[in-house]
This record gives sequence, structure tokens and C-alpha cells, in this order.
Amino acid sequence: MIVQEKMTTMKNHRVVVTRHGGPEVLQLVEEDLPEPKTGEVRVKVLSAGISAYDLMHRSSGKLPGTPKPPFTLGEDIVGVVDKLGDGVSSLELGQMVAGATFCLGLGGGYAEFVCLPASELVPVPTGVDPAQAVCVVVNYLTAHMAMHRTANVQSGERILVQGAAGGVGSALLELGRLAGLEVLGTASKYNHELVAELGATPIDYHTEDIVTRIHELTGGGVDVVFDPIGGGRQLWRSHKALGKNGRLVWFGVAAAKKDGLRVIPFTLLIVMLLKLKPDSRQMLLTPDLSKEKAWYRETLAELLDLLAAGQINPIVAARVPLAEAARAHELLERGGYAGKVVLTKI
Ligand SMILES: NC(=O)c1ccc[n+]([C@@H]2O[C@H](COP(=O)([O-])OP(=O)(O)OC[C@H]3O[C@@H](n4cnc5c(N)ncnc54)[C@H](OP(=O)(O)O)[C@@H]3O)[C@@H](O)[C@H]2O)c1
Repeated sequence: MIVQEKMTTMKNHRVVVTRHGGPEVLQLVEEDLPEPKTGEVRVKVLSAGISAYDLMHRSSGKLPGTPKPPFTLGEDIVGVVDKLGDGVSSLELGQMVAGATFCLGLGGGYAEFVCLPASELVPVPTGVDPAQAVCVVVNYLTAHMAMHRTANVQSGERILVQGAAGGVGSALLELGRLAGLEVLGTASKYNHELVAELGATPIDYHTEDIVTRIHELTGGGVDVVFDPIGGGRQLWRSHKALGKNGRLVWFGVAAAKKDGLRVIPFTLLIVMLLKLKPDSRQMLLTPDLSKEKAWYRETLAELLDLLAAGQINPIVAARVPLAEAARAHELLERGGYAGKVVLTKI
């Protein structure tokens, strides 16, 4: 009787972007529990990822795809199945699951409970840390896509990872090691020890001339550069770091954190010019993760198995309670961390 009463009065807490602005616009709201529709399950969230895109969507409405406030951010979650909608037989109550929230539009992960189609969720092996598992969802999937689908790397190749200590960068270092690649990575000095521990040769992008350093270290440039930083000059540098027949894979605009959203049009212009440039070196873009349904499920399950087997060890930069999401955004804005910042239970 007491349990039933508790269930009916239980509420959901969700972090809402109340208007565009600084981290203070993130507010916790209380509301009724969401109910799963046919084919959906309700997940009690244990960990939700914070991404660089979240900061852009929060601070400005100018990025394509940003809805009008109020809205909830959060593109990846790990949690426990709390209620099954009609027609769901692939998942069980109490099972730990991981998934992306792309199907909800912008996000929705900064919440205590979220309803998602069962088809978007993948079971998490027993014993896995939910905070590490949530790092795998978007960051490792992006790294895997860039490395194995877009660049189609071959064992023994030499690669440069720009932003090597970041969420996606550190995932590229780990997957690069598993793929038998020789890895170089740019990072701030304070992250060099970590980059070296992950098996890569660190380069300080603040003080070193990246192109000269790469050519010194490799004799002729690298086979592939992975660039999640963007910006006109940055992309030219990445292109010049390539050897003959090299591939430049661009998939992000981390530079926008320092230089603002104006880097996006310049980045797109340079990407287009590099694509058109008659050259043995290729400019490549990664496909949209959310459109690759079968690949998404299969690869996410594979990556979670690697995590359970201890073959990858995602870096959790900080674990911040859901109610302190504003503090987590401040941390991302300040920088100086490595890996991914994760929201935990309220
Ligand atoms: N296409 C997709 O599906 C997809 C998915 C996820 C992310 N992304 C993109 O990838 C970008 C990175 O995401 P993330 O989660 O890895 O971000 P993050 O964790 O904030 O990492 C970004 C890293 O960039 C480094 N950095 C900043 N300016 C640099 C420069 N000029 N040269 C080299 N490194 C620089 C910083 O390193 P230090 O602290 O060492 O200075 C930081 O570690 C995001 O901005 C997003 O645009 C795309």
C-alpha cells in the first residue's frame, strides 16, 4: 500500500533551458512522470552526457536545429528500464540500457526519467560503470564512425588526432590503439601525460608549429587527420599535416567555444574549398550517426562489450548531480579537463 502511494506521487525532475544565455538559464523543474507510448520504455536515468553542442544550443538560438526555449538538452543517457510501454518485449524491467536521444529532436537526457523507443536502446553488460558507459554512446560511436567508416583506417597507419584529450579525441586514441595505428595527438600541455598514457605522441598546439612538428616526426606527413576543432586556419593546418594520399576527416567545431559561432561558416567554406582542391589528399565528412540505425545498435553493443572487457577505459572528467547542471556547463566553458563531463542522479 505504501509502495503504491509512493509510485503515484513520484515526480520527474528535468533541467530546462529557460531562455538562451549563460549556464544560469538552466533550471530544474518538477513535473509528472512521463508515460511510455507503444514501443517505448521509461528509463530512470543514472548518467547523462554533456556535449560541446549543448553549450552552443543553450547560449544561442542561431545554430540550425535549436528549438525555442523551454527545452531540455542531453543527447546520450544510461539508465535502468523503469516501465515498459505496450508491445515492448526486447527489454526487461530493471535492465541497464544505454542510448542516444536523437529521436527526441535536440535531446532530453538531462532528466531523472525519459521515455525512449526500445529500438534506440542497447543493454549494458553487468558490472559496467554507468558514467563510463554514457561516454561510449556518442563519443565512441563518433570516433568509431570517423575511424572505421569514414577514414577506413588500416593497421600500421599513422594518424593525427586534434583535440586528443577531449571526449571524442580520447576515444579516437583508445580505438586507434586497438586498431594498431601509430597515433599523434594535439592537446594543451596539462593533458600531455594523459595523451602519452593513451599511447599517443603529444603535441602542444599552443606553442608548437603543428605542421612542422608532424613532418619532423613522420618524415612525410600522416595518413589521416581527425579534426573536431574546425575553423579556417585550423583546417588548413590539418590538411598540410597530411602526407601524399592522406585523408582529412572533419566532424566538429570545438573552436566555437573560444571563437564563437562565427567559426562555423568559415569552417564550412574551407571544407568546401578543400573538397574541390585538385589534390591527392581527400577531405572527408562523417555521416550523421542518427541516420545509421543498424550500424548504431550493432556498434554500440560492440563498444559496450569492449568496455565490460576492460579493453577501453573512457575518461569521466567530472560527475555532477543533475540538479547542478549549470555547474557542469561552467566547467565545460572553463575547459582544462580531459574526457567527458557526466551528469549523475539528482
Ligand atoms: N559529428 C558528430 O557526430 C559529433 C559528435 C560528437 C562531437 N562532435 C564535435 O566534436 C567536437 C569535440 O567534441 P568533444 O566532446 O571531444 O569536446 P571536448 O571534450 O570539449 O574536447 C575538445 C578538445 O579540443 C581541444 N582544443 C581546443 N582548441 C584546440 C585546437 N585549436 N587544437 C587542438 N585542440 C584543441 C581541447 O583540448 P585541451 O583542453 O587539451 O586544450 C579539448 O580537449 C565538438 O565541438 C563537436 O563539434 C561531433
